[in-house]
Amino acid sequence: MIKAIIFDVDGVMLDSEEYTSLAAIELFLKKGVKVKAKDFEPYIGAGENSYIGEVANKYGLKLDIEASKKEMYEIYKQFALGLRKGYKKLNAKKGVVNLISQLTENKIKIAVATSADYIKAKINLSVIGFDEDDFDFFITGNNVKRKKPFPDIYTYAALSLGFSPEQCLVIEDSPAGVLSAKKAGCYCLGIEGTFNKDLLISFEADLVLRNLEDFPIKDLFNNNLQKIYEKEKEEYLKTKAISKAWKAFNNSYSPYSHFKVGAALITSTKNIYSGCNVENSSYGGTICAERSTIMQAISTEGKIHIDYLVVVSDDIKPAPPCAICLQVINEFASEDTQVVLIAANGTINNFVFKDLLPHPFNL
Ligand code: THU
Repeated sequence: MIKAIIFDVDGVMLDSEEYTSLAAIELFLKKGVKVKAKDFEPYIGAGENSYIGEVANKYGLKLDIEASKKEMYEIYKQFALGLRKGYKKLNAKKGVVNLISQLTENKIKIAVATSADYIKAKINLSVIGFDEDDFDFFITGNNVKRKKPFPDIYTYAALSLGFSPEQCLVIEDSPAGVLSAKKAGCYCLGIEGTFNKDLLISFEADLVLRNLEDFPIKDLFNNNLQKIYEKEKEEYLKTKAISKAWKAFNNSYSPYSHFKVGAALITSTKNIYSGCNVENSSYGGTICAERSTIMQAISTEGKIHIDYLVVVSDDIKPAPPCAICLQVINEFASEDTQVVLIAANGTINNFVFKDLLPHPFNL
């Protein structure tokens, strides 16, 4: 059960990335080096030491990091407060203020855990009308040696709130942050914006929302968040399975038929396996994508149950599994196992297993 919420700041509470990179660019210009916003992208969410340090390394610039950060925060503050001509004051992102006040009213423990420096975190909170005292726990990049993507900051935040990481939901916007939360063992809700949904999912975010206005607060109070989570997670597992099937499809070894097939399945243990067709010059030695996937799953887990199967094939119409595969699938599926067939042009056909094999052979 989720008992507490831990917020990242930049990109979750406010969209500070643009101004952070503008401040960094201006800092580098002052030092005589012209850099681009793109240079900083890999270090978003990982704290300012690597944010400016790594880019300085890239351009061979020797920087006094501590002094440079101070300079940069001064510039950032001017942008954030709207004191620079043509740049608006930063506002809290949609849903943030409401969510925090509802959580506080309902006595749900909340924390802030940001890789950013204390000074920047304070600037950010004050710009959107909060203070560190509004949170039950407040931790910044200055308090941890190993910043995100290491799990330390979230482990520490969870334990300091009096909960185990599995009882905490982390709200994050960056891959480094999602990795950190998941490695700590927390649930992780990704917020789209700085990075897109697919990327956050690929880093194992359990759920991704557009903004915190969509946060299911009522369900949190009814202790149903976990349920929503599981349901949403299932949707995401399916999305992931489809992308893994496409990946396998691209790996298809089919020099004889030139017919690529990729498949992926989700087991009842919620793991995803994928495979492709692997042909052989003997022809008879060929294995279909579906069976190759099932072999992978069983080699890893032993007996499995297939909850969901997706097959991607190189055809105009989605190709159903061949009869041998159907019989093999039957061994590990039930009548209501979902089977999704996708053609290379994107056409999708949904079935349940018994539609495809109404009369299986069972010994
Ligand atoms: N193939 C599959 O991978 N799955 C099926 O269910 C039907 C056929 C592959 C096998 C072979 O490599 C190619 O498609 C042409 O038959």
